[in-house]
Amino acid sequence: MSVRFDYGNLIEGNVVGGLVAERLSADLADRFVEVRAHFDAQRAEGRLGFPDLPDARDTLDRISAWAATRAGVYDDVVVLGIGGSGLGATAVKEALLGPFWNGRTEAARGGRPRLHVLDNPDPITTSALLEGLEPDRTLFNVVSKSGATAETMAVYLVAREWVEAAVGPDGTRDHFVFTTDPASGALRTIGDAEGIEMFPVPENVGGRFSVLSAVGLVPAALCGIDVEALLNGAARAVQRCETPKLTENPAGLFATLLHFADVDDGRPIHVLMPYCDRLRPVALWFQQLWAESLGKFVPDGSGRSVGPTPVAASGATDQHSVLQLLMEGPHDKVVILMSVDDPGGDVEIPIRHADVPAIAYLGGHTLGGLLETERRATAEALRRAGRPNGTLTLSRVDASTVGELLMLLQIATVYAGAMYGVDPLDQPGVELGKKLTYGLMGREGAERPVMTEPDGRWVV
Ligand code: PA5
Repeated sequence: MSVRFDYGNLIEGNVVGGLVAERLSADLADRFVEVRAHFDAQRAEGRLGFPDLPDARDTLDRISAWAATRAGVYDDVVVLGIGGSGLGATAVKEALLGPFWNGRTEAARGGRPRLHVLDNPDPITTSALLEGLEPDRTLFNVVSKSGATAETMAVYLVAREWVEAAVGPDGTRDHFVFTTDPASGALRTIGDAEGIEMFPVPENVGGRFSVLSAVGLVPAALCGIDVEALLNGAARAVQRCETPKLTENPAGLFATLLHFADVDDGRPIHVLMPYCDRLRPVALWFQQLWAESLGKFVPDGSGRSVGPTPVAASGATDQHSVLQLLMEGPHDKVVILMSVDDPGGDVEIPIRHADVPAIAYLGGHTLGGLLETERRATAEALRRAGRPNGTLTLSRVDASTVGELLMLLQIATVYAGAMYGVDPLDQPGVELGKKLTYGLMGREGAERPVMTEPDGRWVV
Protein backbone atom coordinates (compact mmCIF):
# COMPACT_ATOMS: atom_id res chain seq x y z
CA MET A 1 0.00 0.00 0.00
CA SER A 2 1.57 3.28 -0.97
CA VAL A 3 -1.09 5.52 0.59
CA ARG A 4 -2.54 4.62 3.99
CA PHE A 5 -5.31 6.29 5.92
CA ASP A 6 -5.02 5.85 9.69
CA TYR A 7 -8.37 6.82 11.18
CA GLY A 8 -7.75 5.49 14.70
CA ASN A 9 -7.78 8.95 16.26
CA LEU A 10 -11.01 9.78 14.48
CA ILE A 11 -12.87 7.05 16.29
CA GLU A 12 -10.94 6.85 19.55
CA GLY A 13 -10.22 9.38 22.24
CA ASN A 14 -13.08 11.73 21.47
CA VAL A 15 -16.60 11.99 22.78
CA VAL A 16 -18.40 10.42 19.87
CA GLY A 17 -15.62 7.98 19.02
CA GLY A 18 -17.41 4.88 20.32
CA LEU A 19 -20.51 5.86 18.44
CA VAL A 20 -18.71 6.15 15.11
CA ALA A 21 -16.84 2.90 15.62
CA GLU A 22 -20.14 1.10 16.20
CA ARG A 23 -21.85 2.74 13.26
CA LEU A 24 -18.98 1.96 10.88
CA SER A 25 -20.13 -1.63 10.85
CA ALA A 26 -23.84 -0.77 10.83
CA ASP A 27 -25.79 2.08 9.22
CA LEU A 28 -22.76 3.97 7.89
CA ALA A 29 -21.58 0.79 6.16
CA ASP A 30 -25.06 0.21 4.70
CA ARG A 31 -25.28 3.80 3.53
CA PHE A 32 -21.87 3.48 1.89
CA VAL A 33 -23.06 0.57 -0.25
CA GLU A 34 -25.59 3.00 -1.77
CA VAL A 35 -22.96 5.70 -2.17
CA ARG A 36 -20.71 3.26 -4.00
CA ALA A 37 -23.57 2.17 -6.25
CA HIS A 38 -24.36 5.81 -7.03
CA PHE A 39 -20.70 6.38 -7.99
CA ASP A 40 -20.80 3.41 -10.37
CA ALA A 41 -24.11 4.54 -11.84
CA GLN A 42 -22.75 8.02 -12.55
CA ARG A 43 -19.71 6.44 -14.15
CA ALA A 44 -21.84 4.15 -16.27
CA GLU A 45 -23.96 7.11 -17.39
CA GLY A 46 -20.75 8.80 -18.56
CA ARG A 47 -21.15 11.75 -16.14
CA LEU A 48 -18.05 10.89 -14.13
CA GLY A 49 -14.99 10.82 -16.34
CA PHE A 50 -12.05 11.26 -13.98
CA PRO A 51 -11.85 7.62 -12.74
CA ASP A 52 -11.29 6.59 -16.37
CA LEU A 53 -8.34 8.92 -16.89
CA PRO A 54 -5.75 6.28 -15.92
CA ASP A 55 -7.03 4.23 -18.86
CA ALA A 56 -6.72 7.08 -21.38
CA ARG A 57 -3.48 5.70 -22.75
CA ASP A 58 -3.90 7.29 -26.18
CA THR A 59 -3.83 10.76 -24.66
CA LEU A 60 -0.89 9.77 -22.48
CA ASP A 61 1.05 8.49 -25.50
CA ARG A 62 0.25 11.62 -27.51
CA ILE A 63 1.34 13.91 -24.69
CA SER A 64 4.54 11.93 -24.03
CA ALA A 65 5.48 11.82 -27.72
CA TRP A 66 4.84 15.52 -28.18
CA ALA A 67 6.71 16.47 -24.98
CA ALA A 68 9.71 14.45 -26.22
CA THR A 69 9.84 16.58 -29.37
CA ARG A 70 9.92 19.72 -27.19
CA ALA A 71 12.82 18.57 -24.97
CA GLY A 72 15.57 21.18 -24.85
CA VAL A 73 13.49 23.74 -26.77
CA TYR A 74 12.32 25.80 -23.78
CA ASP A 75 13.91 27.09 -20.59
CA ASP A 76 10.56 28.06 -19.10
CA VAL A 77 7.06 26.61 -19.26
CA VAL A 78 4.28 28.84 -17.98
CA VAL A 79 0.88 27.38 -17.20
CA LEU A 80 -1.90 29.95 -17.51
CA GLY A 81 -4.92 28.51 -15.70
CA ILE A 82 -7.00 29.18 -12.62
CA GLY A 83 -8.92 27.01 -10.12
CA GLY A 84 -8.94 23.41 -11.29
CA SER A 85 -6.89 24.45 -14.29
CA GLY A 86 -3.97 25.67 -12.17
CA LEU A 87 -3.97 24.11 -8.70
CA GLY A 88 -3.31 20.56 -9.92
CA ALA A 89 -0.27 21.57 -11.95
CA THR A 90 1.18 23.34 -8.91
CA ALA A 91 0.51 20.32 -6.69
CA VAL A 92 2.19 17.92 -9.13
CA LYS A 93 5.08 20.29 -9.77
CA GLU A 94 5.92 20.87 -6.12
CA ALA A 95 5.49 17.22 -5.12
CA LEU A 96 7.48 15.72 -7.97
CA LEU A 97 10.00 18.35 -9.03
CA GLY A 98 10.70 19.27 -5.43
CA PRO A 99 11.39 22.54 -3.69
CA PHE A 100 13.14 25.46 -5.39
CA TRP A 101 12.97 23.77 -8.82
CA ASN A 102 12.90 27.07 -10.67
CA GLY A 103 15.91 28.33 -8.73
CA ARG A 104 18.11 25.39 -9.67
CA THR A 105 20.74 25.55 -12.38
CA GLU A 106 20.02 24.01 -15.76
CA ALA A 107 22.44 21.20 -14.97
CA ALA A 108 20.71 20.47 -11.67
CA ARG A 109 17.40 20.37 -13.55
CA GLY A 110 18.89 17.92 -16.03
CA GLY A 111 18.17 20.35 -18.86
CA ARG A 112 14.49 20.32 -18.06
CA PRO A 113 12.57 23.61 -18.06
CA ARG A 114 11.50 25.70 -15.13
CA LEU A 115 7.74 25.56 -14.50
CA HIS A 116 5.60 28.52 -13.48
CA VAL A 117 1.88 28.53 -12.82
CA LEU A 118 0.26 31.92 -13.29
CA ASP A 119 -3.25 31.59 -11.94
CA ASN A 120 -4.14 35.17 -11.09
CA PRO A 121 -4.28 38.26 -13.29
CA ASP A 122 -2.20 40.23 -10.80
CA PRO A 123 -0.37 42.86 -12.85
CA ILE A 124 2.77 42.91 -10.71
CA THR A 125 3.15 39.12 -10.63
CA THR A 126 2.55 38.90 -14.36
CA SER A 127 5.02 41.59 -15.36
CA ALA A 128 7.62 40.38 -12.85
CA LEU A 129 7.45 36.90 -14.36
CA LEU A 130 7.63 38.09 -17.97
CA GLU A 131 10.58 40.36 -17.17
CA GLY A 132 12.60 37.30 -16.15
CA LEU A 133 11.80 35.20 -19.24
CA GLU A 134 13.18 35.01 -22.77
CA PRO A 135 10.22 34.91 -25.19
CA ASP A 136 12.01 32.70 -27.69
CA ARG A 137 12.76 30.12 -24.96
CA THR A 138 9.33 30.16 -23.30
CA LEU A 139 6.25 28.00 -23.82
CA PHE A 140 2.83 29.04 -22.51
CA ASN A 141 0.40 26.23 -21.72
CA VAL A 142 -2.99 27.94 -21.71
CA VAL A 143 -5.36 25.75 -19.72
CA SER A 144 -9.08 26.42 -19.74
CA LYS A 145 -11.80 23.82 -20.12
CA SER A 146 -14.36 26.46 -21.06
CA GLY A 147 -11.83 28.38 -23.11
CA ALA A 148 -13.31 31.64 -21.90
CA THR A 149 -12.29 32.22 -18.28
CA ALA A 150 -11.64 35.95 -17.93
CA GLU A 151 -8.52 35.72 -15.75
CA THR A 152 -6.81 33.13 -17.92
CA MET A 153 -7.79 34.72 -21.22
CA ALA A 154 -6.63 38.15 -20.09
CA VAL A 155 -3.18 36.86 -19.18
CA TYR A 156 -3.11 34.83 -22.42
CA LEU A 157 -3.68 38.04 -24.40
CA VAL A 158 -0.83 39.72 -22.53
CA ALA A 159 1.49 36.74 -23.09
CA ARG A 160 0.49 36.48 -26.72
CA GLU A 161 1.31 40.13 -27.40
CA TRP A 162 4.61 39.76 -25.54
CA VAL A 163 5.65 36.68 -27.51
CA GLU A 164 4.52 38.07 -30.86
CA ALA A 165 6.40 41.32 -30.33
CA ALA A 166 9.59 39.30 -29.86
CA VAL A 167 9.34 36.41 -32.33
CA GLY A 168 6.89 37.75 -34.91
CA PRO A 169 3.47 36.35 -35.88
CA ASP A 170 4.88 33.35 -37.76
CA GLY A 171 6.88 32.00 -34.85
CA THR A 172 4.18 32.53 -32.24
CA ARG A 173 2.47 29.16 -32.50
CA ASP A 174 5.60 27.37 -31.27
CA HIS A 175 5.27 29.20 -27.96
CA PHE A 176 1.73 28.14 -27.13
CA VAL A 177 -0.03 24.90 -26.35
CA PHE A 178 -3.72 24.87 -25.40
CA THR A 179 -5.48 22.45 -23.06
CA THR A 180 -9.20 22.84 -23.51
CA ASP A 181 -12.56 21.30 -24.33
CA PRO A 182 -12.28 18.67 -27.09
CA ALA A 183 -14.89 20.30 -29.31
CA SER A 184 -15.93 23.80 -28.31
CA GLY A 185 -14.89 27.11 -26.80
CA ALA A 186 -12.98 30.18 -27.88
CA LEU A 187 -9.58 28.65 -27.18
CA ARG A 188 -10.30 25.70 -29.44
CA THR A 189 -11.51 28.04 -32.18
CA ILE A 190 -8.26 30.04 -31.97
CA GLY A 191 -6.15 26.88 -31.82
CA ASP A 192 -7.89 25.38 -34.85
CA ALA A 193 -7.57 28.55 -36.86
CA GLU A 194 -3.90 29.04 -36.05
CA GLY A 195 -2.63 25.48 -35.97
CA ILE A 196 -1.64 25.66 -32.30
CA GLU A 197 -1.00 22.32 -30.59
CA MET A 198 -3.97 21.35 -28.41
CA PHE A 199 -4.77 18.64 -25.89
CA PRO A 200 -8.32 17.83 -24.80
CA VAL A 201 -9.95 17.85 -21.38
CA PRO A 202 -12.57 15.12 -21.74
CA GLU A 203 -16.08 16.48 -21.80
CA ASN A 204 -17.05 14.59 -18.62
CA VAL A 205 -14.02 15.73 -16.60
CA GLY A 206 -14.58 19.00 -14.73
CA GLY A 207 -11.87 21.48 -13.75
CA ARG A 208 -11.13 20.36 -10.19
CA PHE A 209 -11.20 16.70 -11.23
CA SER A 210 -8.84 17.25 -14.17
CA VAL A 211 -5.37 17.01 -12.65
CA LEU A 212 -4.80 13.56 -14.17
CA SER A 213 -5.99 14.64 -17.63
CA ALA A 214 -3.94 16.69 -20.08
CA VAL A 215 -4.42 19.58 -17.64
CA GLY A 216 -1.84 18.12 -15.24
CA LEU A 217 -0.05 15.77 -17.63
CA VAL A 218 1.11 18.30 -20.24
CA PRO A 219 3.20 20.47 -17.89
CA ALA A 220 4.34 17.37 -16.00
CA ALA A 221 5.53 15.62 -19.18
CA LEU A 222 7.30 18.77 -20.40
CA CYS A 223 9.28 18.75 -17.14
CA GLY A 224 10.16 15.08 -17.40
CA ILE A 225 7.85 13.80 -14.66
CA ASP A 226 6.95 10.13 -15.03
CA VAL A 227 3.36 10.67 -16.18
CA GLU A 228 2.81 6.98 -16.76
CA ALA A 229 3.64 6.22 -13.12
CA LEU A 230 1.30 9.03 -12.07
CA LEU A 231 -1.55 7.33 -13.92
CA ASN A 232 -0.57 3.88 -12.70
CA GLY A 233 -0.78 5.12 -9.12
CA ALA A 234 -4.17 6.66 -9.88
CA ALA A 235 -5.35 3.36 -11.34
CA ARG A 236 -4.36 1.67 -8.08
CA ALA A 237 -6.56 4.10 -6.15
CA VAL A 238 -9.51 3.41 -8.45
CA GLN A 239 -9.06 -0.28 -7.84
CA ARG A 240 -8.63 0.06 -4.06
CA CYS A 241 -11.75 2.17 -3.82
CA GLU A 242 -13.95 -0.20 -5.79
CA THR A 243 -15.07 -2.20 -2.81
CA PRO A 244 -18.48 -1.40 -1.31
CA LYS A 245 -17.12 -2.66 2.04
CA LEU A 246 -16.64 0.58 3.92
CA THR A 247 -13.87 -0.53 6.27
CA GLU A 248 -11.76 -1.63 3.30
CA ASN A 249 -12.32 1.43 1.16
CA PRO A 250 -9.91 4.29 2.04
CA ALA A 251 -11.81 6.98 0.12
CA GLY A 252 -15.05 5.67 1.59
CA LEU A 253 -13.72 5.96 5.14
CA PHE A 254 -12.25 9.40 4.48
CA ALA A 255 -15.57 10.73 3.15
CA THR A 256 -17.73 8.92 5.70
CA LEU A 257 -15.76 10.04 8.73
CA LEU A 258 -15.42 13.67 7.63
CA HIS A 259 -19.10 13.82 6.68
CA PHE A 260 -20.02 12.24 10.02
CA ALA A 261 -17.79 14.69 11.88
CA ASP A 262 -19.60 17.58 10.21
CA VAL A 263 -23.21 16.46 10.21
CA ASP A 264 -23.42 14.26 13.33
CA ASP A 265 -20.73 15.82 15.48
CA GLY A 266 -20.76 19.53 14.60
CA ARG A 267 -17.26 19.59 13.13
CA PRO A 268 -17.57 21.24 9.70
CA ILE A 269 -14.01 22.56 9.53
CA HIS A 270 -11.69 20.07 7.91
CA VAL A 271 -7.98 20.82 8.13
CA LEU A 272 -5.47 19.07 5.87
CA MET A 273 -1.98 19.43 7.30
CA PRO A 274 0.96 17.78 5.49
CA TYR A 275 4.22 17.37 7.36
CA CYS A 276 6.16 17.55 4.12
CA ASP A 277 6.78 20.77 2.21
CA ARG A 278 6.43 19.04 -1.14
CA LEU A 279 2.81 18.21 -0.28
CA ARG A 280 1.79 21.72 0.82
CA PRO A 281 0.17 22.54 -2.55
CA VAL A 282 -1.77 19.25 -2.40
CA ALA A 283 -3.54 20.72 0.64
CA LEU A 284 -4.43 23.83 -1.38
CA TRP A 285 -5.62 21.69 -4.28
CA PHE A 286 -7.75 19.66 -1.85
CA GLN A 287 -9.14 22.87 -0.37
CA GLN A 288 -10.65 23.79 -3.73
CA LEU A 289 -11.82 20.23 -4.42
CA TRP A 290 -13.63 19.86 -1.09
CA ALA A 291 -15.06 23.41 -1.01
CA GLU A 292 -16.22 23.87 -4.59
CA SER A 293 -17.63 20.35 -4.80
CA LEU A 294 -19.50 20.21 -1.51
CA GLY A 295 -20.49 23.75 -0.47
CA LYS A 296 -23.97 24.01 -2.00
CA PHE A 297 -27.69 24.36 -1.69
CA VAL A 298 -29.30 20.93 -1.36
CA PRO A 299 -31.41 20.60 -4.51
CA ASP A 300 -34.62 19.68 -2.69
CA GLY A 301 -36.24 23.10 -2.82
CA SER A 302 -35.70 23.69 0.91
CA GLY A 303 -33.01 26.32 0.37
CA ARG A 304 -30.86 24.41 2.89
CA SER A 305 -27.10 24.89 2.54
CA VAL A 306 -24.50 22.26 3.34
CA GLY A 307 -20.78 21.88 3.05
CA PRO A 308 -17.61 21.54 5.10
CA THR A 309 -15.01 24.29 5.26
CA PRO A 310 -11.62 22.92 4.22
CA VAL A 311 -8.49 24.58 5.54
CA ALA A 312 -4.98 23.99 4.21
CA ALA A 313 -2.34 24.00 6.92
CA SER A 314 1.25 22.87 7.10
CA GLY A 315 3.25 20.98 9.70
CA ALA A 316 5.35 21.77 11.59
CA THR A 317 5.04 25.46 10.58
CA ASP A 318 1.43 25.79 11.71
CA GLN A 319 2.18 24.27 15.10
CA HIS A 320 3.40 27.81 15.74
CA SER A 321 0.31 29.37 14.21
CA VAL A 322 -3.08 27.60 14.10
CA LEU A 323 -2.38 24.63 16.40
CA GLN A 324 -3.40 26.59 19.51
CA LEU A 325 -6.84 27.03 17.94
CA LEU A 326 -7.01 23.37 16.93
CA MET A 327 -6.18 22.28 20.49
CA GLU A 328 -8.31 24.64 22.54
CA GLY A 329 -10.65 26.47 20.17
CA PRO A 330 -14.23 25.43 19.46
CA HIS A 331 -14.87 21.72 18.96
CA ASP A 332 -15.75 22.28 15.30
CA LYS A 333 -12.71 20.86 13.51
CA VAL A 334 -11.19 17.64 12.27
CA VAL A 335 -7.51 17.54 11.42
CA ILE A 336 -6.09 15.23 8.78
CA LEU A 337 -2.33 15.15 9.10
CA MET A 338 -0.15 13.88 6.28
CA SER A 339 3.16 12.08 6.62
CA VAL A 340 5.72 10.32 4.45
CA ASP A 341 7.47 7.08 5.45
CA ASP A 342 10.55 7.64 3.35
CA PRO A 343 11.18 11.31 2.61
CA GLY A 344 13.82 10.32 0.05
CA GLY A 345 16.72 11.88 1.92
CA ASP A 346 17.52 13.30 5.27
CA VAL A 347 19.77 15.77 7.03
CA GLU A 348 21.63 14.79 10.17
CA ILE A 349 21.51 17.23 13.03
CA PRO A 350 25.08 17.70 14.28
CA ILE A 351 25.98 17.05 17.88
CA ARG A 352 27.00 20.42 19.30
CA HIS A 353 26.52 22.53 22.41
CA ALA A 354 26.57 19.42 24.62
CA ASP A 355 26.45 21.72 27.65
CA VAL A 356 23.19 23.39 26.57
CA PRO A 357 20.46 20.83 27.32
CA ALA A 358 17.77 22.89 25.57
CA ILE A 359 19.56 22.25 22.26
CA ALA A 360 21.88 19.30 22.89
CA TYR A 361 19.11 16.67 22.71
CA LEU A 362 18.59 17.44 19.00
CA GLY A 363 22.10 16.36 17.99
CA GLY A 364 22.30 12.89 16.47
CA HIS A 365 18.71 13.00 15.23
CA THR A 366 17.70 14.07 11.71
CA LEU A 367 15.50 16.87 10.37
CA GLY A 368 13.14 14.28 8.85
CA GLY A 369 13.03 12.45 12.18
CA LEU A 370 12.16 15.67 13.98
CA LEU A 371 9.37 16.49 11.52
CA GLU A 372 7.80 13.03 11.79
CA THR A 373 8.15 13.07 15.59
CA GLU A 374 6.33 16.38 15.63
CA ARG A 375 3.57 14.89 13.49
CA ARG A 376 3.18 12.00 15.92
CA ALA A 377 3.29 14.32 18.91
CA THR A 378 0.63 16.57 17.38
CA ALA A 379 -1.65 13.62 16.63
CA GLU A 380 -1.33 12.42 20.21
CA ALA A 381 -1.77 15.91 21.67
CA LEU A 382 -4.94 16.40 19.61
CA ARG A 383 -6.20 12.98 20.70
CA ARG A 384 -5.60 13.77 24.37
CA ALA A 385 -7.47 17.05 23.92
CA GLY A 386 -10.44 15.13 22.49
CA ARG A 387 -9.84 16.49 18.99
CA PRO A 388 -10.49 13.95 16.21
CA ASN A 389 -7.64 13.54 13.77
CA GLY A 390 -6.46 11.13 11.12
CA THR A 391 -3.26 10.63 9.13
CA LEU A 392 -2.76 10.04 5.43
CA THR A 393 0.66 8.49 4.93
CA LEU A 394 2.54 8.14 1.65
CA SER A 395 5.25 5.49 1.54
CA ARG A 396 7.32 8.06 -0.41
CA VAL A 397 6.65 11.10 -2.57
CA ASP A 398 6.93 9.75 -6.11
CA ALA A 399 4.75 9.89 -9.20
CA SER A 400 2.96 6.68 -8.37
CA THR A 401 2.02 7.56 -4.77
CA VAL A 402 1.07 11.11 -5.71
CA GLY A 403 -1.20 9.79 -8.50
CA GLU A 404 -2.78 7.42 -5.99
CA LEU A 405 -3.30 10.18 -3.43
CA LEU A 406 -4.86 12.62 -5.91
CA MET A 407 -7.24 9.99 -7.26
CA LEU A 408 -8.18 8.80 -3.78
CA LEU A 409 -9.12 12.31 -2.67
CA GLN A 410 -11.16 12.91 -5.83
CA ILE A 411 -13.08 9.68 -5.32
CA ALA A 412 -13.67 10.62 -1.67
CA THR A 413 -15.08 13.96 -2.81
CA VAL A 414 -17.64 12.32 -5.07
CA TYR A 415 -18.64 9.96 -2.25
CA ALA A 416 -19.00 12.95 0.08
CA GLY A 417 -21.20 14.67 -2.51
CA ALA A 418 -23.63 11.76 -2.33
CA MET A 419 -23.56 11.85 1.48
CA TYR A 420 -24.32 15.58 1.56
CA GLY A 421 -26.97 15.14 -1.14
CA VAL A 422 -25.35 17.58 -3.58
CA ASP A 423 -23.88 17.30 -7.05
CA PRO A 424 -20.11 17.50 -6.49
CA LEU A 425 -19.46 18.14 -10.17
CA ASP A 426 -21.10 21.54 -10.61
CA GLN A 427 -20.40 25.02 -9.19
CA PRO A 428 -23.50 27.18 -9.77
CA GLY A 429 -22.52 29.54 -6.96
CA VAL A 430 -19.59 31.02 -8.88
CA GLU A 431 -21.70 32.16 -11.84
CA LEU A 432 -23.15 35.39 -10.47
CA GLY A 433 -19.75 36.96 -9.77
CA LYS A 434 -18.62 36.00 -13.28
CA LYS A 435 -21.76 37.52 -14.81
CA LEU A 436 -21.28 40.80 -12.94
CA THR A 437 -17.63 40.94 -14.02
CA TYR A 438 -18.58 40.36 -17.67
CA GLY A 439 -21.14 43.16 -17.46
CA LEU A 440 -18.71 45.56 -15.80
CA MET A 441 -15.91 44.71 -18.24
CA GLY A 442 -18.20 45.24 -21.24
CA ARG A 443 -18.33 41.72 -22.68
CA GLU A 444 -20.61 41.59 -25.71
CA GLY A 445 -24.10 40.39 -24.79
CA ALA A 446 -23.56 40.88 -21.04
CA GLU A 447 -25.89 43.31 -19.35
CA ARG A 448 -24.28 46.18 -17.47
CA PRO A 449 -25.28 45.44 -13.85
CA VAL A 450 -26.80 47.91 -11.44
CA MET A 451 -24.44 47.68 -8.48
CA THR A 452 -25.49 48.28 -4.90
CA GLU A 453 -22.00 48.39 -3.52
CA PRO A 454 -21.29 50.26 -0.28
CA ASP A 455 -21.30 53.91 -1.27
CA GLY A 456 -18.35 55.01 0.78
CA ARG A 457 -20.31 56.46 3.72
CA TRP A 458 -19.12 53.72 6.06
CA VAL A 459 -15.41 54.00 5.51
CA VAL A 460 -13.04 55.07 8.27
O1 PA5 B 1 -13.27 23.25 -10.77
C1 PA5 B 1 -13.71 24.01 -11.61
O2 PA5 B 1 -14.52 23.65 -12.47
C2 PA5 B 1 -13.23 25.44 -11.67
O3 PA5 B 1 -12.40 25.73 -10.59
C3 PA5 B 1 -12.50 25.69 -12.98
O4 PA5 B 1 -11.39 24.86 -13.07
C4 PA5 B 1 -12.07 27.15 -13.09
O5 PA5 B 1 -13.17 27.99 -12.96
C5 PA5 B 1 -11.38 27.41 -14.43
O6 PA5 B 1 -12.24 27.06 -15.47
P1 PA5 B 1 -11.71 26.86 -16.93
O7 PA5 B 1 -10.87 25.66 -16.97
O8 PA5 B 1 -12.93 26.72 -17.76
O9 PA5 B 1 -10.91 28.08 -17.30
